[in-house]
Amino acid sequence: MAQYTLPQGSKMLAKQFTYGVATASFQIEGGVEHRLPCIWDTFCATPGKVADGSNGDIACDHFSLWQQDIELIASLGVDAYRLSLSWPRLITRDGELNQAGVDFYINILDALNARNIKPYVTLYHWDLPQHHEDNGGWLNRDTAYAFAHYVDLVTKAFGDRVYSYATLNEPFCSSYLGYEVGIHAPGKVGKEYGRKAAHHLLLAHGLAMQVLKRNAPHAKNGIVLNFTPCYSATDKQADIDATHFADDYFNQWYIKPIFDKCYPEIINQLPQAHQPDIHDGDMEIIGQNIDFLGINFYTRAIYRAHNEEIFEQLPPPAPLTDIGWEIYPQAFTNLLTDLDQRYTLPPIFITENGAAMADVIERGVVNDQDRVDYYQAHLNAVNDAIEQGVDIQGYFAWSLMDNFEWAEGYLKRFGIVYVDYQSQQRTIKQSGLAYRDLITSRH
Ligand code: FCB
Repeated sequence: MAQYTLPQGSKMLAKQFTYGVATASFQIEGGVEHRLPCIWDTFCATPGKVADGSNGDIACDHFSLWQQDIELIASLGVDAYRLSLSWPRLITRDGELNQAGVDFYINILDALNARNIKPYVTLYHWDLPQHHEDNGGWLNRDTAYAFAHYVDLVTKAFGDRVYSYATLNEPFCSSYLGYEVGIHAPGKVGKEYGRKAAHHLLLAHGLAMQVLKRNAPHAKNGIVLNFTPCYSATDKQADIDATHFADDYFNQWYIKPIFDKCYPEIINQLPQAHQPDIHDGDMEIIGQNIDFLGINFYTRAIYRAHNEEIFEQLPPPAPLTDIGWEIYPQAFTNLLTDLDQRYTLPPIFITENGAAMADVIERGVVNDQDRVDYYQAHLNAVNDAIEQGVDIQGYFAWSLMDNFEWAEGYLKRFGIVYVDYQSQQRTIKQSGLAYRDLITSRH
């Protein structure tokens, strides 16, 4: 039997440490006919964008199977469930509440609370209503205000059912992957787009924080950022400098405004046309206090200097997961201690961590020892950071179950629960059983 172990006396073995599982609306829900179209529907329908040509129309059919999924979550013994809300399910074309969508989530929230599972709700996990994209999406400043309006309506409707709200999931992915390199929806390509989209996303975060402070003052409110720590290929100064630039561009760009109310210095090196449109007062809105910082970590990246571009990313060395990401848990500890030194942080929650592996199901068993090893190494890495003084209060496995993995479609499995997409049958993998045992063994 697979099992996770942590050193005796570890804070991660205390009941106060929060363990959870995470999902996102577009990746699991399906139920497409009960909501407005979003940018991921459009992207999926564009040939060549998603590896297996699939879409989110059915996904894990969580829209129909949510009750049994909550039983599954409860059976894992978790303290918390991180889900995201589908903006296009909750809001009508006229910007009003869609009561059927509200009821769908209220039923879920009530079922979670009835089982003492704390709902950690992410307000935006990439499924922008298509009609906002038709008006420019995150390149249009108005989208930030439309987001705040949506947040105002839903937080009033949910009352005190939500334990914690995160405004955005990974604004890096929405802006850079979606608007600069185009490998995510809406698939725009251009160096002039990425920073502008990022600024409007961060503004949306700040405006939503104001709403949350008003409408949900007792919830723990914050944001979820992803980090891929940057390592220099050599100790040559040129490579080190290139790596710093990459770190500022991909990582610090999204956190520094929140804690220091400014962008990294490299903003001055970017051509004027690539810089965001910052209005007076924006940085104050973005830099409000937050109750927690959510951190998502999967892997690191290695860089060196390049003749034409400022930096070049090298192919990741082995060992790799099934999605081609290097397994390098040491970077997780270093990231956490480094952020803790650089910024004055609120409590940290690891809001995503996990691995895609090439699972096989045999006679109802998924023996995913590779994923068990990944989790063990990364739990240790978090524990090391805690021992070095970083205030980390929770950990969420990505993901509860296999689901629609964005540009990879259904080809990559990140779940601790296996999903048979034909029958929609769920089977807890060995990594999931071990997670349950870790969680339920705490005292
Ligand atoms: C993160 C996303 C999440 C999932 C994992 C593998 O970037 O937040 O939805 O796809 O990667």
